[in-house]
Amino acid sequence: MDQQELKKAVGRAALQYVKSGEILGVGTGSTVNCFIDALKESGISIPACVSSSVRSTKKLEQYGFKVLDLNEVERIGVYVDGADEIDPHFAMIKGGGGALTREKIVAMVSDRFVCIADQSKKVDVLGKFPLPIEVIPMAVRAVSRELEKLGGKPVLRDFTTDNGNKILDVHGLKIEDPVQWEQKLNQIVGVVTVGLFAARGADVLLLGTDEGVQTLKP
Ligand code: A5P
Repeated sequence: MDQQELKKAVGRAALQYVKSGEILGVGTGSTVNCFIDALKESGISIPACVSSSVRSTKKLEQYGFKVLDLNEVERIGVYVDGADEIDPHFAMIKGGGGALTREKIVAMVSDRFVCIADQSKKVDVLGKFPLPIEVIPMAVRAVSRELEKLGGKPVLRDFTTDNGNKILDVHGLKIEDPVQWEQKLNQIVGVVTVGLFAARGADVLLLGTDEGVQTLKP
């Protein structure tokens, strides 16, 4: 099965976690786009969504879903989002699409994080995918120097986030202890968000494989 078919399959599989009548958290990316399409087709009635990006908000609104600002919501039952890499403990690298900060915030207030991913995203050790870090624009060079001291090779992405910040994609890291790395990188002044979701990883992984969708727990 090609990658797009696997994304569609996990998008459909995530519908089982959507409860009608409950506010839903919706992430960002091509896999989530498949989920949003499946949600529309399913006809499941949800009162509203909270989205992690302008892109997902636009798509949801085009389909007639109500999208609330997170400040209007106290709690989200389920958050569905993709990942760039996910390890055996369900720590993830996210932010390939640049939406990492809003994703981390929505994940924080969600009871359950359902990760949807095709088989290419499952890895033993995080880091082959360059780690995205959202940075305050004036701190790009200063944060880059700190990252170099830690052995990373930061590359400035030609992109501005929904929050008006820049992204450094850090190559060359072998992230064997993601919780520690997340803490360490969070402490660099000028960093807004690290695209490592380790302290709060996924709770369920729906993995699209050639043999079908697997439901995995950490
Ligand atoms: C968006 O910023 C990311 O965190 C996405 O969740 C991640 O990049 C996965 O995207 P795809 O589903 O497009 O691979």
